Amino acid sequence: MIRKVTILSLAIMIFASVFTIPAFASNGGAQTVQQQKKMVNIAHRGASGHAPENTMAAFEKAFEMKADYIEIDVQMTKDGELIAIHDTTVNRTTNGTGSVGDYTLEEIQQLDAGSWFGQEFVGERIPTFEEIIDTYRGKIGLLIELKSPELYPGVEEKVAEALIERNMHKPNNKKIIIQSFNHESVQQSKELLQNIPHGVLAGTAWANVTDEQLAQFATYADFFNPNMNIVTDELVDRVHNSGMKVYSYTVRTQEQADNLFERNVDGIITDFPEYVYRHPGKN
Ligand code: G3P
Ligand code: CA
Repeated sequence: MIRKVTILSLAIMIFASVFTIPAFASNGGAQTVQQQKKMVNIAHRGASGHAPENTMAAFEKAFEMKADYIEIDVQMTKDGELIAIHDTTVNRTTNGTGSVGDYTLEEIQQLDAGSWFGQEFVGERIPTFEEIIDTYRGKIGLLIELKSPELYPGVEEKVAEALIERNMHKPNNKKIIIQSFNHESVQQSKELLQNIPHGVLAGTAWANVTDEQLAQFATYADFFNPNMNIVTDELVDRVHNSGMKVYSYTVRTQEQADNLFERNVDGIITDFPEYVYRHPGKN
């Protein structure tokens, strides 16, 4: 009997010590596994460090890498179709030239959106927004960026229609977020999709955002998503106090990911999802 009690006590002590050791050396031992929250891992334009951004290859890679979300830049063609592309011209990421909004869907899908990144991606197309959400709904989170919406009147309604048609606007769809640098567009979208969380993107010009501005954002946004270069402990605290979460962009090195972990952000938007997974106990 005494022997059984001793073995049980020993087992409890070992279990307790395993789960209270500092989880990651670079955090100075301040947090234990028990205290850590999950860091949300968002693949920026898909896993764009590994495959051409905003293509199905990049989204598929993010899915394979078990990222929590794919981030998608949504723009609109001349004939009103929603597509995924970051720049407002096709010059950098395809074999074509000119403005996105000057192409019809048929024309833009004839472009090669993969070979600029690597020969193994020759033939990748610019995908439609509907193709992406039909492929990945329920499989991975969708962080939808309305990219330069001022160039595409009605883009907020088009995105809302696509989601509503599929019943993806209901409160149970927890892993859909809409964001934009254009905060008026975020407000418009929030009015159309009241159950979907929205985020304001904040470039370096927002380094000195005031508490009043944060409170105003929080009237329609659930996320304040800043450029990583303006992230400080104090900013993260103030955003949290305003009731919003912080998903910060764009991590392209392990050091940058480590810094954001230290700053206690809620999510990391990265070209390389593996940098976010290298933190044992946090994912
Ligand atoms: O999701 C944040 C990030 O995508 C914003 O910057 O220029 O890469 O769209 P950008
Ligand atoms: Ca983006």
